[in-house]
Order: sequence, then C-alpha cells, then structure tokens
Amino acid sequence: MNVAVIGCGYVGLTTGAALAWMGHRVYCADRDPSVVGLLNDGKIHLYEPDLDRLVSSAAGAGRLRFTTSTAEAIVGAEVALVCAGTPSSPDGSADLSQVKDAYECIARAPGPRRGALVVATKSTVPPGTCSSLAARYGSYGMRICSNPEFLREGTAVRDALHPDRVVIGSDDPVSTQVLCELYMSLGRPLFVVSPIEAELIKYAANSFLAARISFINEFAELCEAVGADVTRVAAAAGADPRIGASFMQAGIGFGGPCLPKDLKALVSAGRDHGVAMDILEQVERRNSRQRARAVERIARALGGLEGRIVAVWGVTFKPGAGDTRESPPVDVARVIMESGASVRFYDPAVETPVPGIEGAVCCDSPYEAVRGAHALALLTEWDEFRWVDWGLVRRLMEGDFVFDGRNALSPAVVRAMGFEYAGVGRRTGGTEFRHVHPGTP
Ligand code: UGA
Repeated sequence: MNVAVIGCGYVGLTTGAALAWMGHRVYCADRDPSVVGLLNDGKIHLYEPDLDRLVSSAAGAGRLRFTTSTAEAIVGAEVALVCAGTPSSPDGSADLSQVKDAYECIARAPGPRRGALVVATKSTVPPGTCSSLAARYGSYGMRICSNPEFLREGTAVRDALHPDRVVIGSDDPVSTQVLCELYMSLGRPLFVVSPIEAELIKYAANSFLAARISFINEFAELCEAVGADVTRVAAAAGADPRIGASFMQAGIGFGGPCLPKDLKALVSAGRDHGVAMDILEQVERRNSRQRARAVERIARALGGLEGRIVAVWGVTFKPGAGDTRESPPVDVARVIMESGASVRFYDPAVETPVPGIEGAVCCDSPYEAVRGAHALALLTEWDEFRWVDWGLVRRLMEGDFVFDGRNALSPAVVRAMGFEYAGVGRRTGGTEFRHVHPGTP
C-alpha cells in the first residue's frame, strides 16, 4: 500500500518506518528541513533505541522516503496518517494547530488523486476532533477517520511492530477497509469503533496509566506514615491479575510529553462538556505533590538547601528516553536550584545543558556528578545507576544522603556503604521481603 505520513516526530517516524518494514511504501513529510535533511542523510533526530536501524533498513530497501512537502508525500497515496504534535494550550486544552495545518496542506495539495484519500489522525486529539475535521475538510476529497497511537518512548519500535491492539475509529466502510488492510499483517487485535470512541480510547488509556501512578504515589505517602514499604505492597497487590503490577512504581511522579498534557486536555474536554473530571484533577494534584515532596525530603536531610551541592542522576522523564520535556527530574532540580543549592547532573542520554535548569553543571559520569556533593538524588532509574561503585561514590561525596526518587536502589546495599537512604514510601529495616514460589525451598 502507498502511505503518506505527515510529521516525523516519535509517532510519525516510528510508524512510517514500521509500516515500511511491513512492506508498505511510505513517504514521510515534515516541514522542518533540518529534520528531513538528517533523515535523507541516513541519520535520525530522536533518541530512540533501534529506530535508526529500522529507518535505515526500510530506507535502504527503497520503501521509506522523506520530504518537506506534504503535497509531494500524498501523491499516489491510498492513506495519509497525520502524526502532528498536540501540545497544551495555556488553558490546558489541546492545541490542535499543527493537526489543522496538516489537514490544510492535504486539502490544498495540487495534483491528481486516485479518488478520495483516507486520512487518519494518529495524534492524540480531544473527543469530537475527527467529526469537526470531517465537517471542515470532508468536501476536499478526504475520508477522515481516527487511528490513535499507543507507542511509548524508549520502546517505540517494539510497540509499533507488536502493538497490544490497533484502534480504528471510522464510520466509513471504505476507510475501515483500507486501515484494516494497512495493519492486518501485524496479526494483532483490531478494534473498529466510531471516531469519537477511538479518540476517547487513547485518552482513557493515558489517563488510567497516570491514575495508577498517582494512586501508588498516594499509597507511598501513607506507607511512609505508617512504617510500611510501598514496593512490597505494590508487588503483592499487583499479583492479582485484576490489578496487575505495571505502572505501580512509586516515585517522583509521571512526566514526559504525553501523560501530563493528555490529562490536562481531558480535564479541559470534560469542562467543555459539563462533566467534572474530579478523579483526574486529583491525579494531577498528587503528581505535582510528588515533586514537591522530593525537594522537601532532600532539604530536610540537608537542614536547608541554601549553599548546598546536590548531585542529580537522571534528568530525562524516564529511562530509555532522551526527552526532558515535562520531566519530573528537571522540575525537582529547578526547585532545588531556586532554593539556593547548586546542581551537578549526569544522564546517559543528555550531554548538553537542559532547558529549565541551564545553570546546572552537566557531568559526563555519575561519579563526576557526585564530586563534592552534599546529597545525591536519583531521579531517573537508568540501569547503570544500579551497578555503581558505592564505595567510590562515598569517597567522592562531601555528604552522605541518598534520595532514591524511583525506588531503584537496594536500601540495604546503599546503607551498608555508610549512606543515609530515603526512597519514596520505603521503610527502613523490618521484615525481610520474601516472594516465595511453590517449589522454592
Ligand atoms: C505514554 C503511554 O504509556 C503510551 O502508551 C502512549 O502512546 C504515549 O504516552 C503517548 O501518548 O504518545 P510515554 O509518554 O512514552 O508513553 O511514557 P510512559 O512509559 O507512559 O511513562 C510516563 C511517565 O510515567 C514517566 O515519567 C515514568 O517515569 C512514569 N512512571 C511510569 C511512573 O512514575 N511509575 C510507573 O510505574 C510507570
């Protein structure tokens, strides 16, 4: 099938490369000439494991091309996938201007078309967007439908090639048929629903994930108050398949370019439709509280932050991603700096100053970051932090406080090296944690 992908961000580039890998002929458009220039030179502008190899093999096979022109990308296409960004507007609602621009470019593209083009929005958009786009652009020879994307940064390639499900939001049999054919070879469940349901499914998924995180974070605070360890509570409660253990990791909260903005957009959409989204508003409040609690905990251990040096391990919003947008670690580091401390940070995916904490010193190893520090804060759980030489860290640090903002470390190991350890909802000492399977001696 001939496919046009509009927008070469995480979703667009990964989707385009995955579809080309599946055998489709894909033409990706991005209006940023520097992005397209890099892609045409065989490089990628994103930090995403395995994506470079997927892109280069698909491009090498002649099935993946790039252009700055949407009009060129859609020539001969049977389907166009709109993968434009939908950032937050100042009032929290989704800013749809990039999506609308993409539709506008398709509508105004000159040149012949083989009948009406199926145009599916992969961007996360509020309920009702598809029908307003259809009302505005339907007469321009487009069959407009919704096809939300569920891939995650850090595992985007795997998620695109092995999705849990594909959601097709369409009331039009021709569009449904085209999109089913597009994804059929993945051999994954296809859910064909109305466009508005497809839009809501994406929001339901992201806001439910956010709610799980805030739930366990609230529980973590209770665990601290009563002397329990939230990692044990989450592991055993999550062993019930109705609950599940994923997205139950307590810490400094969720961030990144998706969950926070989607939550805001959903609360705003609820407001527009006269529905109070009380649970989700509380999810947001708890998420902000986690960041504030982290700063308070470090300040308490140091007797104030003025004049102190804090080492930060990890500034991306999660491990495996190179993205610092809406990153909880950046927020925590920023407030630490605003409180009079200086920050030295190390992150395996970041080599340059980070917007929001420009004054922080960017170090090239975890050891360099802790040199002379009064406290260490692990804020993104990159694997390499689990295997550091704690003896060396102890010798390099001026102080002895370790805040584990992702519960990624073994408190016993860290304490054994002479540190004071604090996690999120973790208790000190007590019953040894045992997880015994039948048959284990
Ligand atoms: C999220 C969704 O997981 C994807 O399904 C969705 O497609 C994507 O948004 C999107 O809308 O494009 P992503 O933003 O890449 O994916 O990141 P997640 O893996 O969901 O993590 C989000 C945040 O939650 C991170 O800051 C992470 O550290 C935090 N988190 C995650 C926790 O604090 N605890 C957990 O147990 C899990």
